[in-house]
Amino acid sequence: VKRREDAVLTIALSRGKLFDRSVELLLDAGVELSREDFYSRKLDLRSRDGRYRVLLVKPWDIPIYVEYGIADVGIVGADVLWESEADVYEPLDLGFGQCQIVVAGRQEDLGRNDAVLSQLRVATKYPNLTRRHFGSKGVQAEIIRLAGSVELSVLAGLADKIVDLVETGETLRQNALVIHEVIGTSTARLIVNKASHALKMKQMAAFTSTLRERIHHGNHSIHREGG
Ligand code: PRP
Repeated sequence: VKRREDAVLTIALSRGKLFDRSVELLLDAGVELSREDFYSRKLDLRSRDGRYRVLLVKPWDIPIYVEYGIADVGIVGADVLWESEADVYEPLDLGFGQCQIVVAGRQEDLGRNDAVLSQLRVATKYPNLTRRHFGSKGVQAEIIRLAGSVELSVLAGLADKIVDLVETGETLRQNALVIHEVIGTSTARLIVNKASHALKMKQMAAFTSTLRERIHHGNHSIHREGG
C-alpha cells in the first residue's frame, strides 16, 4: 500500500534485550508486520497497510534517530535515554525491561565515604550519568568509559567502583561485587521526536494511547494469572 510519507509513522527499535517485548507490544497494538519480518536481518520494514515503518538500529542509536527526526518514535531503555541526554519527548513508561542503575564495588568498600578519597576511579558505559551522579554528591571522580563487561574493571584493578545495570544480580555476585548505591530504576520508554509530535499529532496520539491501553491490559492479565 502506497501512502504519503507524512502519513507513515516511523518507529526505531533495537534487536536487543527489549526487542521481544517490543515486538509483542507492537503486534498487539495492530502494527501489521509478521514475526518473520521482525526477526529477519532486514533493517527497514514496512507494515502491510503502509501505516508504519520500522527501523532496526543499535540501542545507543535510537535516541539519535528520534532526535534527528529520521524516526518519529522509538522504544529505548531509560538508561540509554538518560545517558544520551537527547532532546525528545518521553510520553510513556512501557514498564518492561526493568533493571536498576547502581554504583557497585567491593564488599569492603561498602559504606566508605567517597568524598575523602582523593582519586576515586569509576568505570562505566554511562559517563554522563556517572558524572551527574557523583557531581550531585560533590564527589570528585575520574570516570573511565568502557564498552562493556565493566564488572571486570574492579577485579582487574582498573577502577574502584562501577556504574552499571543490575537485572538479576548474577553478574555482580559471580564477580564478588556488591551494590553500594542505587541511582535509579530503568524501564523501556517510548520516546517521540518533538517536530513529529506536532506534525503528526493525530497519528501520534492514537499510537500512544493504543500502546498505553495495551500495556495496562497486559498488566491486568499478568495479575489475573498470578491469582
Ligand atoms: C548487562 C549489565 C551487567 C549485566 C547485569 O550487561 O551491564 O553486566 O547485564 O545483568 P544481571 O544482573 O542479570 O547479571 P550486558 O549483558 O548488556 O553486556 P555488557 O556488559 O557487555 O554491556
